[in-house]
Amino acid sequence: MVVMPLVPVDLSGVAETLLGNLGRRAAAARAGALRDPMAIQVVDRLDYDFADFARGARLHAVRVATFDRAVRRFLLAHPAATVVALGEGLETQFWRVDNGQVRWLSVDLPDTMQLRQELLPDGPRQSSHCGSALDLSWLDGLEPAGPILVTAQGLLPYFQRDQVHGLITGIAQRAPGATLVFDVVPKVMLGLVRRGSGRERDLAVELWTWLFDRDERDAISALPGVDQLCDLAPPRRPHPVSLAIAAVTRLPRRLRYSLPVFPILQATLRTVPTG
Ligand SMILES: C[S@@+](CC[C@H](N)C(=O)[O-])C[C@H]1O[C@@H](n2cnc3c(N)ncnc32)[C@H](O)[C@@H]1O
Repeated sequence: MVVMPLVPVDLSGVAETLLGNLGRRAAAARAGALRDPMAIQVVDRLDYDFADFARGARLHAVRVATFDRAVRRFLLAHPAATVVALGEGLETQFWRVDNGQVRWLSVDLPDTMQLRQELLPDGPRQSSHCGSALDLSWLDGLEPAGPILVTAQGLLPYFQRDQVHGLITGIAQRAPGATLVFDVVPKVMLGLVRRGSGRERDLAVELWTWLFDRDERDAISALPGVDQLCDLAPPRRPHPVSLAIAAVTRLPRRLRYSLPVFPILQATLRTVPTG
């Protein structure tokens, strides 16, 4: 039997934050809360201690299931669509949702992309763009008429407010009719996280720059090119965490974004280009 040497991990700043998400997905998969054997394989190949991330794995699995459901629904309507995963890190979503026809584009920064290519090389319907999501050149090779679904899981909170707004309006101009799914950090979350400790706490306090509330939701809805904005509920699994988060998405907005959960939103962009 050939024993593969462990792959060293040398990530810092925002790139380092991908390790927590990967570790929680692998822990959730090991606990049977998520079907994600690829996440376990990737964790087992890395020279990194993921033990701390088992805490919070179930909650994270609900967030992942919500993103997955949004992608699966899009692919049911558009089986040969292109999914663009901005800031994809070591996400293994392609293998969870692949319908045999989807085309998949991963976008991430050079250090992360190098690691991704080593651990999760592109298959025939996958491609990678090495560069910032904020520089819209990742759109160059896409057919603008779509159908295109752009996801940003755990990415936008690390940008400045004007960068988030610019990214959304830029996509609306270049790929009218696309759909965007992204998660946000409510302002209240930063206060709670500040009271904690550990490396993830320090990274969050230092790096979360775009925080969300009701006003910010209104601002996103009013951006040129945004047609509709809605909150996504997790799949209705008979698990208290899923049911509780689903209940939060039905609360009035005033309350919805004042609770310590990570909302996930879907923006549908106008089919007529703006400006
Ligand atoms: C919290 S991790 C999320 C990773 C993955 N989406 C997940 O949920 O497991 C943030 C990711 O954003 C990437 N990232 C940070 N700034 C970026 C940028 N300007 N453009 C593209 N990716 C970026 C990091 O390299 C990292 O992979």
